Amino acid sequence: QHRTVTIIGSSNADLAVTMDRLPGPGETVLAHSFITTPGGKGANQALAARLAGAETEFIGAVGRDANADVALGMLAEAGVELSRVRRVDEPTGVALISIDAAAENSIAVVPGANATVTADVVAELGEVRGVVVLQGEIPAAAVEQAAAAAERVVLNLAPVIAVDLDVIRAADPLVVNEHEAALVLEQFGGDGPAAPEDAARALLGHGVRSVVITLGAAGSLVAEPHDDGARLSRVDAIRAEAVDTTGAGDAYTGALAARLAAGDELIAAAGFAARFSAASVAKPGAQASYPRTLDELPGA
Ligand code: RIB
Ligand code: NA
Repeated sequence: QHRTVTIIGSSNADLAVTMDRLPGPGETVLAHSFITTPGGKGANQALAARLAGAETEFIGAVGRDANADVALGMLAEAGVELSRVRRVDEPTGVALISIDAAAENSIAVVPGANATVTADVVAELGEVRGVVVLQGEIPAAAVEQAAAAAERVVLNLAPVIAVDLDVIRAADPLVVNEHEAALVLEQFGGDGPAAPEDAARALLGHGVRSVVITLGAAGSLVAEPHDDGARLSRVDAIRAEAVDTTGAGDAYTGALAARLAAGDELIAAAGFAARFSAASVAKPGAQASYPRTLDELPGA
């Protein structure tokens, strides 16, 4: 039952600087290192899905600049299908990333070419078979169009953007962190932050097909409908020494999609995704840190 994974989303050049602590407004700090590596939530998830064993296509847009090669290099090397990535007259997306000594980061993204991945562009793809993975770094209308054309949607609504509520309901699963879960609940008219269990139940109550709430070091919570109620399962995180957590959530989502495409149940897929993403936090960069082989994943 091996199906393909298609990721429609963003790709960026990540310009990352490490420092002891993040500067405040108006402040200058001296930083230690600077690296340029491929990023973007969509592209990160595509590489993760590919390295996790799925036949994977990435669909997005880059510019006609040097950063385009940065953005697509690792995907090409790993054998991600890129023939439907468009070259456009906008700069390749760029993310400015600051990372402190505790591996906390702050990120500012300039979408550039990613903003040209519009609903019209997605409409030209026609129906998309297999598992389709979507995020919040391309226009909302494109996400809506892609969800309508997809066989199965994994929706990582990061960042949370306003999309048609039926798109969120169709997600199987919706993958969000706690903060994002609260924002999505607000879109359904719910009120404020809730414990992850309550948030997951509420999302199912609003008609979302299945939900994964990622909880960082506390693992993740998988919620599926069950006998008119909800079945909630906690999946443990894998302990890892964090150097750079940039793209760890994307590693999780991409690996999850790959295992779903291979026929795993959601809970099993979440367990694998936790191991895959744990491997990524020990190394700098997003895609640059993803495990190239699966023999040595932590937490076996
Ligand atoms: O999720 C991490 C990603 O967010 C980075 O790679 C950066 O490009 C931004 O899109
Ligand atoms: Na990393």
